[in-house]
Amino acid sequence: MPNTPDKITASSLQSQKQRGQKISMLTAYDYPTALLQDEAGIDVIFVGDSVGTNVLGYRSPQQVTMDDILHHLRAVRRAVRRAYLLADLPFMSYQASVETAVENAGRLVQEGGTEGVKLEGGLPVLPQVKAIVEAGIPVVGHLGFTPQSQAREFYLFSDRRGTVPKFQGKGPKGAKALIEEALRLEDAGIFALVLELVTEEAAQAVTERLSIPVIGIGAGRYCDGQVLIVHDLVGLNEEDLILAKAYGQTRQVWLDIFSTYRREVAEGLFPTAENVAHMEPDKHAELDALLKGNGKND
Ligand code: KIV
Repeated sequence: MPNTPDKITASSLQSQKQRGQKISMLTAYDYPTALLQDEAGIDVIFVGDSVGTNVLGYRSPQQVTMDDILHHLRAVRRAVRRAYLLADLPFMSYQASVETAVENAGRLVQEGGTEGVKLEGGLPVLPQVKAIVEAGIPVVGHLGFTPQSQAREFYLFSDRRGTVPKFQGKGPKGAKALIEEALRLEDAGIFALVLELVTEEAAQAVTERLSIPVIGIGAGRYCDGQVLIVHDLVGLNEEDLILAKAYGQTRQVWLDIFSTYRREVAEGLFPTAENVAHMEPDKHAELDALLKGNGKND
């Protein structure tokens, strides 16, 4: 287990930034995966709206509902002991009004057991961020590529997941605007920020200017931490994304296992004598006797 406190909290994550100790964050959508991540010492376990395209077979993150997030969040909550548990506010659960945003953030805490919520966007959602923080719920921001509002062209009209990277902060004006938006979010009360698909230079500039942790996904080496989608990490998705690293190729492992199982069932190789339970011999003899009589209807 890494050298971190027993329970990860919003304030221990902030201390990690001050100590220069990188933060590890992963998505999880189910109980066994979250159990393993917690055991491995992952700092932040995150039920993202990426559950839609990675687990539920949706074509777009915009299809994810509060009920979807709550269902997966409850499973993950049952597993997580040490990590900080974070959940996404899905599309249209916070955009329409401040009241809906606070209400839905509250549902993720009360009904799902999350410790904090993440929402996407900058200036347009500042009132929502302030209100949720004032209600006592810790908030994580998300800037750069924001799939809920920008993913339509990548997901909706394609059978494949968003494989077309759209990096932000390529020019000085864009990078400066990103820094300003990040600072406004920090002022509004977020305790950490996710930066997705941002040039390394712009992400570094944001990280150096914010006193809260900046967690990157496709945002280079100088963020305070990294987040990845667990299916990309374990090589369960077919695509190789520039922002991700597959630490194993479990897709092929699962495929081989399913094929071998199918073949063994078809050929009568599974189950074997080791996989079966037996009747006591006297009970078996009794059954034979019963079946020799009119046992058919007994
Ligand atoms: O939903 C998600 O998985 C995310 C990550 C890309 C951070 O928002």
